[in-house]
Amino acid sequence: MEKKDIDWGNLGFGYVPTDKRFVANYKDGAWDEGALVSDSTITISECAGVLQYAQTCFEGLKAYTTEDGHIVTFRPDLNAERMIDSCKRLQMPVFPKEKFIEAVEQVVAANAAYVPPYGSGATLYIRPFMFGSGPVIGVKPATEYQFRMFTTPVGPYFKGGAKPITIRVSDFDRAAPHGTGHIKAGLNYAMSLYAIVDAHEQGFDENMYLDAATRTYVEETGGANFLFVTKDGKVVTPKSDSILPSITRRSLMIVAKEYLGLEVEERPVPFAEVAEFAECGLCGTAAVISPVGKIVDHGKEICLPSGMDEMGPITKKLYDTLTGIQMGRIEAPKGWIHTIL
Ligand code: PLP
Ligand code: COI
Repeated sequence: MEKKDIDWGNLGFGYVPTDKRFVANYKDGAWDEGALVSDSTITISECAGVLQYAQTCFEGLKAYTTEDGHIVTFRPDLNAERMIDSCKRLQMPVFPKEKFIEAVEQVVAANAAYVPPYGSGATLYIRPFMFGSGPVIGVKPATEYQFRMFTTPVGPYFKGGAKPITIRVSDFDRAAPHGTGHIKAGLNYAMSLYAIVDAHEQGFDENMYLDAATRTYVEETGGANFLFVTKDGKVVTPKSDSILPSITRRSLMIVAKEYLGLEVEERPVPFAEVAEFAECGLCGTAAVISPVGKIVDHGKEICLPSGMDEMGPITKKLYDTLTGIQMGRIEAPKGWIHTIL
């Protein structure tokens, strides 16, 4: 199969339409079979649940070309499960796990020419999503839905890739206690837009959100979980009911323990402790692991000892091991790699 003529090494994190997307529709209480289609546009009722009351959720995963030339995805079963959790919380019909994984296989195979070559630094991002397509005017769930999955080749989420970024403590909250922070609802991202635009205008790469109730514990950023490394080499990640259970973070905690022999802790992380850490990184499908060099709290700078030039040493080991597993250079734990071609 001939690859598309794309400058893979210079891709940012943007939308490049690819040839095929998977579409299934839910009506009268059941999903249809679903199929690959070429049309990248959607026509729905002006009164669709998604347009009126933001009834939509999504997922994100990637396809990689391995060192030996296969195309694989990473733990798609966990994306399917998390989407089921999101759908339940938003009163949407669940899309069955096996069907989700089959759709990933179909959509990646159909767009194989867009899967960036091994070593290019780019990957094929897969975006599954679901939305209320049927009309609702009273506040209630729609009765018709569309599940869709498209792909787009992407480069690094943060310009500069592995260069440490600067983030700020946000004055806006991302998620309320007992709210929707733990699911991948579009509404969580809509309400973060003001904060991210403002952060960028002020010269910051991202926002660090604290817990909305007390503003004393670290939660996450708009699109990634935190990992910290203590001065004695322990990997610490915040535990909270209002952060998204990142698949990358859950995998990295296993990598840290089982592959690197590091001590790991998932526990509430007081913001006051952040100045004590040796390294900090943002982890997620899009972010992979993006090192944080500086955290600014209302003018007060916390400079991580790992500095602004490169990733800290443990962050780097975690990055190399995770991407080594994803690209087939390092043997993966059973069930993590789902080979498509
Ligand atoms: N946190 C938020 C708010 C996100 O949007 C994402 C992205 O999916 C993550 C964390 C990272 O999750 P994952 O590693 O499953 O991509
Ligand atoms: C992902 O990492 O897949 C996400 O969905 C994060 C998003 C903010 C790009």
